[in-house]
Amino acid sequence: MATFRVNGKTVTVEKNQKLLRYLRDTLGLTSVKDGCSEGACGTCTVLIDGKPTKACIPQTDKLEGKEVLTVEGLSGFERQVYTYAFGHAGAVQCGFCIPGMVVSAKALLDKNQNPTREEAAFAIRNNICRCTGYVKIIDAILLAAELFRAGEVPQAVEDWSLGARVPRIDVEEKVTGTGIYPDDIYMDGMIYGSAVRSEYPRARVLAIHTGEAKALPGVVGVFTAADVPGSNKVGHLKQDWDTMIAVGDITHYLGDAICLVAAETPEILAQAKALVKVDYEELPCVRSPREAMLPDAPLVHREGNLLSHKHIQRGNPAEAIAKSKYMLTQRFYTPWTEHAFLEPECAVAYPDG
Ligand code: FES
Ligand code: FES
Repeated sequence: MATFRVNGKTVTVEKNQKLLRYLRDTLGLTSVKDGCSEGACGTCTVLIDGKPTKACIPQTDKLEGKEVLTVEGLSGFERQVYTYAFGHAGAVQCGFCIPGMVVSAKALLDKNQNPTREEAAFAIRNNICRCTGYVKIIDAILLAAELFRAGEVPQAVEDWSLGARVPRIDVEEKVTGTGIYPDDIYMDGMIYGSAVRSEYPRARVLAIHTGEAKALPGVVGVFTAADVPGSNKVGHLKQDWDTMIAVGDITHYLGDAICLVAAETPEILAQAKALVKVDYEELPCVRSPREAMLPDAPLVHREGNLLSHKHIQRGNPAEAIAKSKYMLTQRFYTPWTEHAFLEPECAVAYPDG
């Protein structure tokens, strides 16, 4: 048990838990985003006694007497400043990282209202942004610093004519953390679901033992491919993804779902998932596109390992090449770009009539 303050209010927390869970699940402070739950992404950044801290790490029992601040606890003027600065700098795209960025920016600007570009970059070194990139976010922090020094926020420009530069219309909700993402939806009596995933990139599923998990009090159901009505295949560009791998079928990668468990609480859900036992026959896997191209490569999909082949040309290249004075043959590569995973891939569903 611990007593501390959150956004100026004294709270007493009986059950020891991660600060992130308490802020989101009990206090409903959903500006504190759960991007990874393990200290890697910075979306959950809050101030503890003025210091930026990832809320998914400390346990509430360790916070006796501390002062916690989230974006919901900013003053009205601070909200205006950050909303204007992030909007004006074009620093917000999906917005999932932004409340954490704002908290890190506040930690810096509370101490130093005239930071250098390097200091602003250093302030957000523990915050990952999957879509905007960092240049505009740093611009926003420097602009916020300027506004704090000036002590006022310029009037929002209301020029929405063609060609005018306007901020995104959802900047305010994304900066102040009031925008709702699927993980922010809480409903009375909601239950929780999660998939048990393959232990091997390529293995035949021989049996799925769900009895023990089903018997655990608080478990609502355990479902396998046999429970999926109609086709078990889904996919955006190509319907080649098994909703769950059926007994007798072969997994395609480590992320394949074997069964889906539903339970009354996240804790029971985690326990139940651990009780599901799967028998596999491990098979050789392919670990790179080059291996997948070898003539005797194991098949990731029954139809073959080539997803698609695209040949792009504009105009008449043969004619253009024939007329060229010089010809250069080379292999070109595009850079590897990782769209870092931040927001939980989740959905909330409810029966409606
Ligand atoms: S660092 Fe806490 S949720 Fe990612
Ligand atoms: S705007 Fe940063 S994660 Fe999308």
